[in-house]
Amino acid sequence: MSTRPEPAVPSSSSSPAFPDDFIWGAATSSFQIEGSPHADGKSASIWDTFCREPGRIADGSNGDDACDHYVRYTEDVSLMRQLRLAAYRFSVAWTRVKPDGRGPTNEAGLDFYDRLVDRLLAAGITPYPTLYHWDLPQALSDGGGWLNRDTAHAFADYAAAVLDRLGDRVSTWTTLNEPFVSANHGYVTGEHAPGHTSMAEGFTASHHLLLAHGLAGARIRRLAPDARLAIVLNFTPVQPATDSDEDTAAAGRVDDLENRWYADPLAGFGYPDTTADHYGWDRAEVHDGDLALISAPIDLLGVNYYTRQIISAADGARVPDGAPCNTMGWEVHPPSLGALLRTLRDRYPFRSYLITENGAPMPDAARTDDGRIADDDRLAYIRDHLLQVHDAIADDCPVEGYLVWSLFDNFEWAHGYGPRFGIVEVDYATQRRTPKKSALWYADTIAHNRLAPTS
Ligand code: FCB
Repeated sequence: MSTRPEPAVPSSSSSPAFPDDFIWGAATSSFQIEGSPHADGKSASIWDTFCREPGRIADGSNGDDACDHYVRYTEDVSLMRQLRLAAYRFSVAWTRVKPDGRGPTNEAGLDFYDRLVDRLLAAGITPYPTLYHWDLPQALSDGGGWLNRDTAHAFADYAAAVLDRLGDRVSTWTTLNEPFVSANHGYVTGEHAPGHTSMAEGFTASHHLLLAHGLAGARIRRLAPDARLAIVLNFTPVQPATDSDEDTAAAGRVDDLENRWYADPLAGFGYPDTTADHYGWDRAEVHDGDLALISAPIDLLGVNYYTRQIISAADGARVPDGAPCNTMGWEVHPPSLGALLRTLRDRYPFRSYLITENGAPMPDAARTDDGRIADDDRLAYIRDHLLQVHDAIADDCPVEGYLVWSLFDNFEWAHGYGPRFGIVEVDYATQRRTPKKSALWYADTIAHNRLAPTS
């Protein structure tokens, strides 16, 4: 770790202030940062396997080292403290806790999260653990993974084991991260582990994921009645390319599949019927009582937002000509975050929202005179999205905080280590952490609870 952030420069009083209790933080996930794939009894996850299949990961890399966070977590928590983070969202690796996916708990694996939570609390940082951020035990995938209803029950048992150890110190439990991506990228497009390509499997996986949330949620309520229950969904607002009937219908289907498929059943509205019928999903996996379990009230909805989509019936998703993009080709469009938050406010009964991921991979080429990374484009991305959050709150959207994705440069799934999302640079050869300009600006913003000057 390098230098401390500069002493905060008094911010202009004209920059908007956030509510006094606004939560400022950062997010990561287990597979993307931990490394140590065999430590203390950990077993292989579907991502360990997937990375070893030729051609799956753009740079041929894997999660074996990643950010070496499993070893360096103490230093990492100190860095979080220096950056003034009040909240840290991480995920627990199921493979560390139950190496066979089910059955005996591996106490040595839980020890890591026990130590991490204690460190965070000692540093004044609230832990926001997510129980599943895509790293399914390979042993469960061998038995059908999310195509097998039993996986949902195994998840609830695993959740109970984690709560048994950490429940006395965690106040918000998040079940799943982005079940859309688990089901769609994992079972429909094959871009993610386990790499299947079947629309029908996608529907099956989606329901079993939501069932896992429902079953685990019920256990969490019983084991930790005072804790808050949350799930994290990704939202990609959709606009039709033209107002033609074809484009409007195509955009509606994408909106249903990506944005409403999970939020609607969680809110008690059931699956989007027209789109389910359009794709011929017979809902055979949906047993009596499932939708009631899934729609048991949550306390908090985590919102991950990165970009919007313009949909045409002929060409699918496209980025408008000349639109600003990040290094992964995703359009940078802050107003869609504000619009999304208003749509959520109007459409759903959820009590509270937390921005659980927002950020951008940028080239990070520019350096300041003293050699620091001058990631002005990432800084502007974060600032412009925070402005949208600020205005949405003023417009009665109950958003309680913002967690930037990501604290560190890390393993970006099928893209490997190429895209850099971190506000902190990680030199993978030395594991040296260096806060980028955006991190120092973020610390300054947190210190004043209002957007800091940008230069
Ligand atoms: C989200 C994932 C997260 C990260 C970002 C860029 O979909 O939850 O792990 O990869 O995208």
